[in-house]
Amino acid sequence: MFLFPLRTRHCITIHQCSLRLQGKLTAVARNIHTHIPYKMLPLSIEQRRPAQSPEYDQSTLSNYKEFTVLHTDLNLSVSFDKSAISGNVIFQLKKLNKDNKKTSELHLDTSYLDVQEVEVDGTGASFQVEKRKEPLGSRLVIANPSSNDEFNLTIRFCTTNKCTALQWLNSKQTKGGKPYVFSQLEAIHARSLFPCFDTPSVKSTFTASIESPLPVVFSGIKSKDSNEVANVYKFEQKVPVPAYLIGIASGDLASASIGPRSTVYTEPFRLQDCKWEFENDVEKFIQAAEKIIFDYEWGTYDILINVDSYPYGGMESPNMTFATPTLIAHDKSNIDVIAHELAHSWSGNLVTNCSWNHFWLNEGWTVYLERRIIGAIHGEPTRHFSALIGWSDLENSIESMKNPERFSTLVQDLNDDTDPDDAFSTVPYEKGFNLLFYLENVLGGKAEFDPFIKHYFKKFAKKSLDTFQFLDTLYEFFPEKKGILDAVDWETWLYKPGMPPKPHFITALADNVYQLADKWIQMAQKLKTSEEFRSEFSAIDIKDFNSNQLVLFLETLTQNGHSTEKPKDFDWAKAPVASKVLLDIYQDKIVKSQNAEVVFKMYKFQIFARLQQTYKNLADWLGTVGRMKFVRPGYRLLNSVDRPLALATFDKFKDTYHPICKALVKQDLGL
Ligand code: BES
Ligand code: ZN
Repeated sequence: MFLFPLRTRHCITIHQCSLRLQGKLTAVARNIHTHIPYKMLPLSIEQRRPAQSPEYDQSTLSNYKEFTVLHTDLNLSVSFDKSAISGNVIFQLKKLNKDNKKTSELHLDTSYLDVQEVEVDGTGASFQVEKRKEPLGSRLVIANPSSNDEFNLTIRFCTTNKCTALQWLNSKQTKGGKPYVFSQLEAIHARSLFPCFDTPSVKSTFTASIESPLPVVFSGIKSKDSNEVANVYKFEQKVPVPAYLIGIASGDLASASIGPRSTVYTEPFRLQDCKWEFENDVEKFIQAAEKIIFDYEWGTYDILINVDSYPYGGMESPNMTFATPTLIAHDKSNIDVIAHELAHSWSGNLVTNCSWNHFWLNEGWTVYLERRIIGAIHGEPTRHFSALIGWSDLENSIESMKNPERFSTLVQDLNDDTDPDDAFSTVPYEKGFNLLFYLENVLGGKAEFDPFIKHYFKKFAKKSLDTFQFLDTLYEFFPEKKGILDAVDWETWLYKPGMPPKPHFITALADNVYQLADKWIQMAQKLKTSEEFRSEFSAIDIKDFNSNQLVLFLETLTQNGHSTEKPKDFDWAKAPVASKVLLDIYQDKIVKSQNAEVVFKMYKFQIFARLQQTYKNLADWLGTVGRMKFVRPGYRLLNSVDRPLALATFDKFKDTYHPICKALVKQDLGL
C-alpha cells in the first residue's frame, strides 16, 4: 500500500489546526500558506501525482526545462507569390542549469520548416535538423549554444509548402480578389511557423516586425514605429505568452471601432456586418469579466473576422481574437463565442495549461467564465440554458467517439505519441465546465466560489500549471471545506471515461422547447395529413424562440424528444409528411435563418428525416463554410446517407479547406 511520508501528514494536521483557530480567513491571509509543501489530496488522487509539478510536457521535442526565454523577436516577411513566410527569430535565452555539460545542446521544435542559418551571439553556429518523428516534427539541435549564461540565439528560416500552421488563399479564393494568409498554431503548430520551444510551459514576451504588401494583424499591440508606407508592421506583446498563442494574418483588411478599447478587422465587404454584430456587446463582456475575475491586463481587445475557411469558431490570440465569419448571424446570437475568446484573456492566456493533458484547465475554465459573463448580462436562466446545450453536445460527442475509453477522460494522457489534434473534443470544454459548476455548487454557490476564482487567476497569472496544482490551490483556499472536497469523486471526474454526474440545471428557457419537440414526436406517430398537422401547429409556436432555443428544438427532435419515455422505434424517416410540414410551418425562423448553428441543425434534421431532395443543399453549404464544427459532422451526416455525394462534394471543395480540416475530414470519410 502507498503511504505518505510522516512529515507530510504531520504538516497537514498542523496547517488545518492553525487555520481552524484563525476562523474565517481572508484570501490574502490564505495566500501566506500556499507555499507549504503538503500533500493533502485524497489518497487515490495523491497516488497519481507526477514526480514533478507542473508535469513535463511530452508534446515537445525541445529541452525547455534547461532554459528561460527572456524575450522573443520575430522578423518576418510575407510572400504571397511564394506562399511562404521567411525571416528570423531572435531568442534572448538564459541557462537554467549552470552545469555546462547538461546544457551543451539546445533543442527546439520545428515541423516542415526550412532552417537556414543559426547564430549564437552573432557568430555562426552548427546545427542539425533531426529526422521527423510523428506527430511532433523534427528536433532542431544546436551544439554548444554558448559559454555565457545569457545569450542571443538567431535562427533564419522559411516556411515550406507542407506548413501546417498557415493557410494561403490566392486572389481567386477571396471575395475581394486579394490574397490572404492566416495562422492557426494551437496546439502544436507554432513549430511549423518558426523554430521554438513549442510548449505551453514556456512563456515569453514578443516583439514582431512583419513585412507584407497587405495589412497585417498580430497577437499584440501595434507599435508606433510601424511603417505602413514601407509595408512594415510592428507589434509588441508585453505579457509573456506561450508560442501557440501567436497569431498572424495578412490580407485586404479594413477596420472599424466596436468599443472604447476594441476594433474589428476583416475584409472590406463584411466590415459593416461585423461592426453591427459586435458593437454593442464587446465592452459589456469585458466589464462583466473584470468584475468576476480582475482587470483586463492586455490593453486593447480586438477581433479579426477571418475568411470562410477559418477552421475554428475562434482562437484567443492575445489582443486579437481570430474568429470565423459564421459568427455573423445578423442577430448577435453567436456572440457567446466572443465571450469565450475574451475569457481566455484570463484562462489560457494568463493562466495556462502546462501540457495538452491538462487542456481542460484552458477550455473548461473558459467555458465556465464565458457562461458567467453571459449570466451576468442575461441572467441565471440563460447561463443554465447554455450549460444545458453544452450537456447535450457532450453526450453527442462521447456517443460519436471511436474510442471513448481513451478520449473522454477529463485529464488526458498524450504521452503515447497521440497528436493533440486527434485528442481534441468537447470533453475538456464541457466536462471541465461541469466540474467547475459542480464545485461552485457544492462549495456554497457563487458568493463562496468567486473569491477562489480571483485567487486562482492571481496566483497562476503568467504561469503554466497542471491539474494537481489546481487541486492543491482549491484545498488550500477552502481549508474549512476539506470534508466537502474529500467527498468529491475526483477519480471519476478526472480519470474515468464517459459522462460525469448530471447537475441540476434551471430549465426555464428549455421547457417550452422540450414540450413542443415532444408534441411533434407524438403527433408524427399519429397524424397523417398535412392539414392535420396544420391544425395542431403554427408559426406562432416558435415565435418567441431565440436562436439557441431553435438549436435545442431541432436537436431534441433528432434525439426523439426529451420525455423519459423516448419512443425507441420512432424514426423521422418514417414520417416524411411530418418532417416536411414542420419545416414548412417554421420556414421563416428555421429554413430562412442566417444563423449557421440553426442552419446546421436543420440539415441534420433533414438527414435524419431522409429528405433526399435536401441533401444537395447541405452539400452546397459545405462549400461555403470552413469551420470544423460544421464541416466534419456535415460530411459524416452526408456520408451516412449518400456516400457518393459526400465523396464528390469533398473532392470538389477539399482544396478550399484549411490543411488540418482537410486531413481530418479525409480521416472521417475513411479515405
Ligand atoms: N482555443 C480554442 C480553439 C482551439 C483549441 C484551436 C485547440 C486549436 C486547438 C478556442 O478558444 C475555442 O475553444 N474555440 C471554440 C469556441 C467555442 C467553444 C465558443 C470553437 O472554435 O468552436
Ligand atoms: Zn477556448
